[in-house]
Amino acid sequence: MHMPRAEKIWLTVGLLTMFAFAVVLGVFAFVMGAQPPSDAQAMDPTKVSQTPPFNQPGLKKLGPNNYVADMTAFVFSFAPNRLEVPVGSTVTFNVTSKDVVHGFELVGTNVNMMVVPGLVNSATHTFTQPGDYLILCNEYCGTGHQLMAAHLIVK
Ligand code: CUA
Repeated sequence: MHMPRAEKIWLTVGLLTMFAFAVVLGVFAFVMGAQPPSDAQAMDPTKVSQTPPFNQPGLKKLGPNNYVADMTAFVFSFAPNRLEVPVGSTVTFNVTSKDVVHGFELVGTNVNMMVVPGLVNSATHTFTQPGDYLILCNEYCGTGHQLMAAHLIVK
């Protein structure tokens, strides 16, 4: 088949560009170890209830105004489903799922992550305003999805 010279040149340019992108992606993923954000830790989703710290989900005080909230998500709730911290607190949320993919959206903040079984996802937020912050599941997870929520009270 006859191919015009200009077409050959552009086909070559296109293939070289594609190859260059593949090399850049490959270097990021495999050489530099880039991962999707916040998939910090792997764990066995069938053993969440036996694995610390998720065998005792809850709020732990690390220091003045500094907390960690180890939370589990499951159909159709969070544990714990009510947390309370003083105004000015910085809270790191570590969340894992005991069953299917859930969401973890802290309404009014930029904390919004997927909760994937087998992974622990983390996000940190400093609460400078008092209020009743709603934690919502924003990934459809079954018939009770719309009931899946928790509250963080800041006062
Ligand atoms: Cu969990 Cu929707």
